[in-house]
Amino acid sequence: MKLKVEELTFSYENRKVLDSIGFAVDEGEFVSLLGPSGSGKSTILKLLTGVLTPFGGSIAVDDRPVEGLSQHFAYMPQNDLLFPWKTILDNVCLYGQIHGSLEAMRREAKASFPEFGLAGYEDSYPSQLSGGMRQRAAFLRTALCKADILLLDEPFGALDVITRGEMQDWLLKIRRKLNRTVVLVTHDMDEAIYLSDRILILNQSPARITHEIVVEGRQRDRQWLYGQGELRKEIYDRIMAGVREVKTYDSSMAPQ
Ligand SMILES: Nc1ncnc2c1ncn2[C@@H]1O[C@H](COP(=O)(O)OP(=O)(O)OP(=O)(O)O)[C@@H](O)[C@H]1O
Ligand SMILES: [Mg+2]
Repeated sequence: MKLKVEELTFSYENRKVLDSIGFAVDEGEFVSLLGPSGSGKSTILKLLTGVLTPFGGSIAVDDRPVEGLSQHFAYMPQNDLLFPWKTILDNVCLYGQIHGSLEAMRREAKASFPEFGLAGYEDSYPSQLSGGMRQRAAFLRTALCKADILLLDEPFGALDVITRGEMQDWLLKIRRKLNRTVVLVTHDMDEAIYLSDRILILNQSPARITHEIVVEGRQRDRQWLYGQGELRKEIYDRIMAGVREVKTYDSSMAPQ
C-alpha cells in the first residue's frame, strides 16, 4: 500500500468540512476524488501535502506515518500560476533547489519539453503560451519533483472543453511512462472515468467518501469512454444521492 489515509477530520473556523475520510492508494495507481464543488476535495490534498494540519486521523506513506510537509507529495494546486516574469524553463525548475541539484533538473526539464508539448518554448514567458501549454508547464513542474505521489487539483478545470479533452488524451498517454502514484481531484465525471483506476465519490458538508468505483479497461480511448454510459449513470446517481442526503438533512434542521 503506497498511501493510507485514516479517519481524517478537518474544520475551518468551527465548520466541519471533512468527517472521517479514509482511503488507500496502491503503488502506481491512479485514483480520482470526485465530488460536488465545496465538498472538501482541495482540503484533502492540502492535508496530504501538510499545508493544512488535520484535526484528527492519520496519513501514512509506505506504512510510515507522515506529518507536516513531506517530500513524498508533489502538489499541483487548483489555481496554479506560473510566474509571469520567469521563463518557462525557470518556472518548471522552480523547485530544483529543494529537490536536489538545479543543474540536473534543468537538464531533465529540457529533455522533457517535447513530451510535454513545449519544445522550443524553454525561453518563452507564460503570456506567450496557450492555456493548455501553461497547464502542461505547471504539470511538468509537478512531475519534475522527485516525489512519488502526484496530487493534481483539477489540473484542466480552467480550460475550454476541446483543450481539456486534448490534455486528458495526453495525460492518458504519458500516464504509464510517468510511473507514479496519482491522486486527481476533479468534478468532471468523464475525466475521472477516462483516467482513473478507481474513483472515490465524496458527498458534501461534512465530506465523507460514500462510494468507491473500480474502472475496468486497460486500453482506453474516446470511443471506449463514449461506451461508459452505465458507469456514468451510476456515478451521477451516487453523487446526486449524496447531495440529496445533505439537503434532506438540512431541511429537517430548519425551524418548523
Ligand atoms: N481558508 C478557508 N477558510 C474557510 N473556509 C474554507 C477555506 N477554504 C475552503 N473553505 C470551505 O471549505 C469547504 C471545502 O472547500 P474545498 O476548497 O476543499 O472544496 P472543493 O471540493 O475543492 O471545491 P471546488 O470543487 O469548488 O474546488 C468549502 O465549503 C469552502 O467554502
Ligand atoms: Mg477545490
